[in-house]
Amino acid sequence: MNSRLAQFGSSVFAEMTALARAHHAVNLGQGFPDFDTPAEVKEIAMRAIADGHNQYAVSHGEPVLRAALAEHAERFYNQPLNPDENICVTSGASEALWCAIQACINPGDEVIVFEPSFDVYIPNIVMAGGVVVPVTLHAPSFRFNREELRAAFSKRTRLLILNTPHNPTGTVFTRDEIEFIRDLCAEYGALVISDEVYEHIVFAPNAHIRPATIEGMGERTITISSGGKTFSCTGWKCGWALGTKPLIDAVRRVHQFTVFAGATPFHYAIAHALRLTDSFYMQLLSDYTRRKDMLLAALRQTPLHIHEPEGAYFITADISPLTTDDGITFSKRMITEIGVATIPSQKFYVNEEHGRSLIRFCFCKKDETLNKAAERMLSLSSL
Ligand SMILES: Cc1ncc(COP(=O)(O)O)c(C=O)c1O
Repeated sequence: MNSRLAQFGSSVFAEMTALARAHHAVNLGQGFPDFDTPAEVKEIAMRAIADGHNQYAVSHGEPVLRAALAEHAERFYNQPLNPDENICVTSGASEALWCAIQACINPGDEVIVFEPSFDVYIPNIVMAGGVVVPVTLHAPSFRFNREELRAAFSKRTRLLILNTPHNPTGTVFTRDEIEFIRDLCAEYGALVISDEVYEHIVFAPNAHIRPATIEGMGERTITISSGGKTFSCTGWKCGWALGTKPLIDAVRRVHQFTVFAGATPFHYAIAHALRLTDSFYMQLLSDYTRRKDMLLAALRQTPLHIHEPEGAYFITADISPLTTDDGITFSKRMITEIGVATIPSQKFYVNEEHGRSLIRFCFCKKDETLNKAAERMLSLSSL
């Protein structure tokens, strides 16, 4: 194992999921839905297999999916994309992140990352030889301090990674915040990767702003998303990167030597899904609003301090009113003693101390799963 890799242990998700399984816990840890993909979308995937779409896809994505992605960007964000030049379809947003980070940075370049952060960014940066510069989203509102962000930039800054709506905090970056980020990136000549996998899960009155559509951001931003969260098919691993021709050429170059192409039948199914009517997207949001409110109501009966999310499908809770344990110890006790699995948020921080008292619950679950968790959490105060 090379020295860059050796510093990373196994993923916290794998560890908590294994413990949850062993104890038959209700799993509000790892962020995958326990309900199924829409039937008509599954139908298209099955038909694509039956119709013989079973060999390598076009490396940067089947034409039908790139066309649907361009339509989707126009429909929701008024963002014009040329399917032949501005899109690279990948194996999930994860591969898009890997390719974009590899494509953008040289060894020694600095990359600004808001912490807490989704757990793949930092290993990806380090494996590309980059230097991570964390900027904290401060509790309780989980927003950045402008002076701290300014101070994080230097002449070595090459890239900033933005994630809106944000995992794990649920923060949705405002236009004003993105414009502040844009001005700094312009001043220092930095690129932006904008991870928007929760783009369709944003709770009123908040609204998702696609950073690439803000003036001065299009030429420096690679937008990343995937079908997994929107269409409840995380196992299909169908994602994409969007951006200017030079940026996407660079992403495609990494992609062709990483996986070469994604899984062909899913390109057809996700193309269909992206074109679902507005009522699908409205129902998705109303279902997630209900699930969020159910979990919030349950958590508000406990002594935990709860942060209400603006988007995505996670709720962050501060355990310090209940215990002096750190989040890892407490999460393990929650699994073994009351049978509810969460994720300790400290694993999302560069300096784990910053997140020592935070845990993350996900609510991409059936009502019955959330009700079962709520029942079990009534005994949380005795932990
Ligand atoms: C913020 C964020 N980005 C990317 C991903 C990965 O997406 P995919 O499953 O499409 O690779 C996730 C999955 O949890 C995520 O939360």
